[in-house]
Amino acid sequence: MIRWIDFRHPRMSRCSCVLIALCISLLTSCGAVNPPLSQTKGASAISINDFPPMDAAPGTTASPAVRALAKQFGRGINFGNMLEAPKEGDWGVRAEDRFIDLISDRFTQSVRLPVRWSNHASADAQATIDPVFFKRVDYIVDRLLARGAIVILNMHHYRQLDGDALDPGEFEVDPAIVEVRFLSMWKQIAERYASRSDRLVFEIYNEPHGRLETRWNELFSRALRVVRQSNPTRAVVVGPTEYNAAHKLSELSLPADANLILTVHTYEPFAFTHQGAEWVKPQPALGVVCCDAKQRAVIEQSLDLAVREARRLDYPIFVGEFGAYSKAPETSRIEYARFMRDAMRSRGLSWFYWELASGFGVYDPASNRFRESLYAALYKD
Ligand code: GLC
Repeated sequence: MIRWIDFRHPRMSRCSCVLIALCISLLTSCGAVNPPLSQTKGASAISINDFPPMDAAPGTTASPAVRALAKQFGRGINFGNMLEAPKEGDWGVRAEDRFIDLISDRFTQSVRLPVRWSNHASADAQATIDPVFFKRVDYIVDRLLARGAIVILNMHHYRQLDGDALDPGEFEVDPAIVEVRFLSMWKQIAERYASRSDRLVFEIYNEPHGRLETRWNELFSRALRVVRQSNPTRAVVVGPTEYNAAHKLSELSLPADANLILTVHTYEPFAFTHQGAEWVKPQPALGVVCCDAKQRAVIEQSLDLAVREARRLDYPIFVGEFGAYSKAPETSRIEYARFMRDAMRSRGLSWFYWELASGFGVYDPASNRFRESLYAALYKD
């Protein structure tokens, strides 16, 4: 099983993180940053029971509209390491206009936009999203939509929800309200974007894992219900646990809803795709090449399983993330990208490469150019 430990802020030591966390919790308890629940109007009344789950209805299948939309995703791109950093820019890259303006027929018309909402919302059960941050996301979403893009807006890296350690720059909330905050945030996000075109798609949570292994089905059902109150038919993406692993699709229970699209992530062979990744502990060794027959078989098995499971569930499915870190040998990265592209194409799968302009990047932000061989392997012909 994959274990991620994100610690992408080498400049900040663990000591300073602990100090910052202590200061925040002191300020919080004095009411300086986030007022305690009792002082927040109505907050104490909010509980998970205010977000009931959907009905389960075996036999519900996907609408023709979401089937068509999932096909239209085609070959997309993740705007990774931007808005899902603790604060935009913390991981060295922002969702700059020059990146948004790359979106075109020539490159791609499909963008997955990961967002760490949890670090921009109040620490109480209401989880009031910071209006300045909301405006920032509005700007990016609307600029992308105006370019004709399909945009998958998600919630990413709410560390406490998975039971993970916090990242530097992230604040902690009372464990008792972690899930209700998740639902409160979705209520706000869904209401905020309810009037946007149906080319805006919601993805409820990236790579559920850890403590969500046993909580995900119920929590997704509650989140979907709250989304449906303001967005009755918008396409909503859901993936299985263990970081969206195909073999966990068998444990996903889908609520009665015709506008769902399934997703999986595949970073097989992990020792290749994540060699040298600083945020994986222990850090995978360098020098692994790709893709021999055995490695190809591992990739193909996972894609085949995803396709089979989607057929059984009778919903469309796509690959929301795959990619190889820049520390992998360059020729192998190209070979891997080409192999993945062909393997997904032959199975009729849409996909989103991880990612645009950071460590896995298909675009070099320094020279302002695509990395031509990687770009060609993925997006040409
Ligand atoms: C993960 C995450 C993403 C991470 C990437 C590469 O699955 O979704 O945030 O940076 O894959 O490790």
